[in-house]
Amino acid sequence: MEIDDIAEIIPAGTAAAATGAARKVFIKTYGCQMNVYDSQRMSDALAADGYAATETIDDADLVLLNTCHIREKAAEKVYSELGRLRQLKAERAEAGREMIVGVTGCVAQAEGREIIRRASAVDLVVGPQTYHRLPEVVKKARGGQKVVETEYALEDKFEHLPQPRKAEVARRGVTAFLTVQEGCDKFCTFCVVPYTRGSEVSRSVAQIVTEAERLAEAGVREVTLLGQNVNAWHGEGADGKEWGLGRLLYRLAEIPGIARLRYTTSHPRDMDDELISAHRDLRALMPYLHLPVQSGSDRILKAMNRRHTAVDYLKLIDRIRAARPDIAMSGDFIVGFPGETDADFEATMEIVRQTNYASAYTFKYSPRPGTPGADMDGHVEEKVKDERLQRLQKLITEQQHAFADGLVGQTISTLIEKPGRQPGQIVGRSPWLQPVIVDEKAGEIGDIVDVRITKTGTNSLFAEAV
Ligand code: SAH
Ligand code: SF4
Ligand code: F3S
Repeated sequence: MEIDDIAEIIPAGTAAAATGAARKVFIKTYGCQMNVYDSQRMSDALAADGYAATETIDDADLVLLNTCHIREKAAEKVYSELGRLRQLKAERAEAGREMIVGVTGCVAQAEGREIIRRASAVDLVVGPQTYHRLPEVVKKARGGQKVVETEYALEDKFEHLPQPRKAEVARRGVTAFLTVQEGCDKFCTFCVVPYTRGSEVSRSVAQIVTEAERLAEAGVREVTLLGQNVNAWHGEGADGKEWGLGRLLYRLAEIPGIARLRYTTSHPRDMDDELISAHRDLRALMPYLHLPVQSGSDRILKAMNRRHTAVDYLKLIDRIRAARPDIAMSGDFIVGFPGETDADFEATMEIVRQTNYASAYTFKYSPRPGTPGADMDGHVEEKVKDERLQRLQKLITEQQHAFADGLVGQTISTLIEKPGRQPGQIVGRSPWLQPVIVDEKAGEIGDIVDVRITKTGTNSLFAEAV
């Protein structure tokens, strides 16, 4: 899963003019795509309550930090950000202007009231399961209360959150996220997610289809289904049968306007036959799969509680590639899990060589309090972790470049997404998620066009119209 330490700013909405809203909200998003989606939905919920989104903290009456807890530093960054906000809030108070500060996301869930104790600027703390209560919580905070809302609500938050606003969806672009599943029951021994996001919950087929149709009507061409374990999604279909993610993808591919589908992040244990068949049958399903394995050593996989072996993973990839030969693989890896020896690490290098990734994310193990891994023996020295990380990254970078170089001279389909940085250029997205830079004559935003790859850049492809 893509984890971005750099906060992404959810930009200003158009709702201000439409509603004449007097108040503005600034949301800073950390962590995974799930948080990006949640920030958009919080923005939608607050818009209904008269808050317009803003890109600058300076004119915000409400500041929300939507946080990530996956690694130690992430939480520390939030606390230092809150320190800066305390100053800003004091300056505001002197000028007689309100500024409400809130913490949402996985740090909110994990730390709860502790955040208010440690950071006096904070007025509200809301966990990921209770975003539908946000407008109410903000009201209380404006009345001078400090509010902590981290109890998992019984009602389904998705039932209570408003649908995305069409004008906002259109403004955000031709690609969109759609959360179909939340939470995790897997309890990998290194990971905080089951504690911050709760147990696995799937949204209903009807809700997902309605939201996807709404996105399509607003001009979205590519939808990425999200879930901590997206392929654990299941629900009752219109035919009264139990559907898995594969069946859901067949249904979503029928929606007019939606030309591309993706899903992330998957667990190897939940890749079933129907999902693999969907990769064979659906042209809309992009030939790119993020399937983390974490380690190539069976001993470490066992200690991580992944409940699959390296061979299970490789066999699974063979089956997926048999169904969709041009599929490109992506993954996540952790180096330096407690007890990882040189031989264990070599097994990770080996599984990377055998799989051959188009891209992958690599992490140094970071002990998370409360997870079983943190209490295990044999913590690996930082220096060793660094060396292993470097070697692994070098191998993955080589594979990534080889994959991109292999596309030079080929004609590939590209979804045109946005204007380029240089005048006359436009940026699209390849089926394998690479940015494609091409002459603006190639097509309009939202078009899916064939382009010929001429050369590769560091992280992008250059192409000419055909
Ligand atoms: N549900 C997804 C995403 C989990 S978090 C999945 O199962 O893949 C995304 C990635 O962060 C994980 O795949 C893992 O590689 C990494 N990660 C999680 N906890 C970590 C920790 N304590 N230290 C280092 N990396 C970690
Ligand atoms: Fe974390 Fe494992 Fe669940 Fe992924 S499957 S969210 S790594 S516990
Ligand atoms: Fe981070 Fe929570 Fe996502 S811990 S990676 S924001 S699920």
